[in-house]
Amino acid sequence: MCFISHMTVACLTVMIFSLSIYGAQTPCTTDGWFGPDCQYQCHCAGSAPCDKHDGSCSSGCHQDWFGPACQYARMGFTVTGNFNSSWLTDNKDTTCNRENLRSVTVTLDTPIPLTWLRVVVSDAVHLNTVKISYANESSNGTECPESNTAEINRVSADISCPTEYPVTSVTLSGRGVNFLCSLYISAGRNVALRQRAEQSTWFNDGSYYLWWAEYAVDGKIPTTNEKRSSQNTCTHTALHDRSPWWKVSFTQPVEITRFIIENRRDCCQERLKNFSLTVYPVTDSYRPITFRGPDEVKSTYSVVPSPRISFPVREVKITEGFNPKKILTLCEVFIFGETRCVKNRYGLRCERECNCANQTSCFVHSGSCPSGCAPGYTGLECSQECETGRDVTQSTQGDYVKIPVALHVGRRTLVTRPIEHVRRDVTQATQGDSVKIPAALHVVGRTNLVIRLMESVHKDVIQATQGDCVKTPAALHVVGRTTLVIRLIEPVHRDVT
Ligand SMILES: *[C@@H]1O[C@H](CO)[C@@H](O)[C@H](O)[C@H]1NC(C)=O
Ligand SMILES: *[C@@H]1O[C@H](CO)[C@@H](O)[C@H](O)[C@H]1NC(C)=O
Ligand SMILES: *[C@@H]1O[C@H](CO)[C@@H](O)[C@H](O)[C@H]1NC(C)=O
Ligand SMILES: *[C@@H]1O[C@H](CO)[C@@H](O)[C@H](O)[C@H]1NC(C)=O
Ligand SMILES: *[C@@H]1O[C@H](CO)[C@@H](O)[C@H](O)[C@H]1NC(C)=O
Repeated sequence: MCFISHMTVACLTVMIFSLSIYGAQTPCTTDGWFGPDCQYQCHCAGSAPCDKHDGSCSSGCHQDWFGPACQYARMGFTVTGNFNSSWLTDNKDTTCNRENLRSVTVTLDTPIPLTWLRVVVSDAVHLNTVKISYANESSNGTECPESNTAEINRVSADISCPTEYPVTSVTLSGRGVNFLCSLYISAGRNVALRQRAEQSTWFNDGSYYLWWAEYAVDGKIPTTNEKRSSQNTCTHTALHDRSPWWKVSFTQPVEITRFIIENRRDCCQERLKNFSLTVYPVTDSYRPITFRGPDEVKSTYSVVPSPRISFPVREVKITEGFNPKKILTLCEVFIFGETRCVKNRYGLRCERECNCANQTSCFVHSGSCPSGCAPGYTGLECSQECETGRDVTQSTQGDYVKIPVALHVGRRTLVTRPIEHVRRDVTQATQGDSVKIPAALHVVGRTNLVIRLMESVHKDVIQATQGDCVKTPAALHVVGRTTLVIRLIEPVHRDVT
């Protein structure tokens, strides 16, 4: 990739080369990076290499990162309360709470606006019984909207809970707390990384390294206090630049929740104090907003807008802090947030399409759908088509269940409704009813179900809960806690017994 004008010649060569290889999607060959342009940094546990295409880590994510491709910074927290919380702080999903707790409250290391969180439990049945609320400086106990939960697998779910203001603590309550194993609070992903960076001028110190603009978005910070260490990871404007600036522009509009700016370590840190940082909106309907860095010298500056920036941002510009020499040096500009994709798209580059029920939006980070998958789709990203021939034992919200014969309803009311081709309500069934089902079922419940497959003799064959598409030999016995909406799908599924 090419970033800055002084590299134009090298850039053209690289561009021609990359255009020719782009179609083939040659994987990134640089260690520690992945994606089509080596745009993303691997974050595997123990610095293990990640998958060159999708960034996944066979050994799991580094403890500071989580989520898809380990790209999401994990906000640190401390647990308050009078119990042994080692199961929550040990970074393991396999150690879980065993005490009877009414709630668990964690205090964030740095107050930030919430975006989304991930909870992991030990017992799938209790996944949807975890309730989340938060506190900020002035209020307490504000609940996250319940409808924004998407299951990731049998025991983990992502909960979208965007807040306007920085949050100081998060409280989990509900029965699920007794089965809680992990809590991940997203602090966003670094959307600045390897984006297009420019600066007003650059400083030629006579070395090979010219303190280039892209050094502030290269994912590296100085590791020692020697000049050498700053020289090839930091930016530096020229000595007689009257109004030095640095900026980064994004290939996709981004939603930003916070900034972290790394100062140089070898000298001259005072030059950065009182810097100003301006965010430019994508559309003219908003005005740019400027934040001022503190009037003090720091190695690391943190800027958390409050309220959060309400518009998608196209560019971020930093100007020097009125130091006598008028020099701007930045070692890294971390910009945490998320890509703003157009409706129905998701992914690091918005390159993928959502498959949610009712055409609703999916989570940009994962593609999963709070409203459940569109008919015919299943899996984490709802991108997997429901297979017909597969015998799977578990099923729940968003899944298709093949029911060739009858449905036997358990304790609560079921509403069975046909979709697509049938377009009429088939049956409202209550406990004990047997319902004839022509083809397949799409289960759209919120909570975990226990679905038991039955032979025609109504003997339990298989225990079914959340999972995928289920092929049933005879009938279903559904034992759910709440009302379900089950939709029949007629011609979609072949191979009806
Ligand atoms: C907390 O629990 C862990 C794991 O069971 C144990 O290793 C540790 O000693 C306990 N800490 C305290 C203070 O009881
Ligand atoms: C929130 O409520 C809890 C329990 O009532 C209390 O301990 C805590 O101090 C409160 N926090 C704020 C920020 O008001
Ligand atoms: C705290 O949260 C409440 C509820 O979301 C919000 O109305 C209020 O403006 C927030 N205040 C601050 C200072 O963050
Ligand atoms: C910091 O910047 C502001 C805004 O330009 C300016 O008024 C102030 O004097 C600066 N502070 C210092 C110590 O330079
Ligand atoms: C889908 O839309 C219909 C009609 O607008 C509504 O009744 C139904 O509850 C929606 N389903 C979901 C899962 O949002």
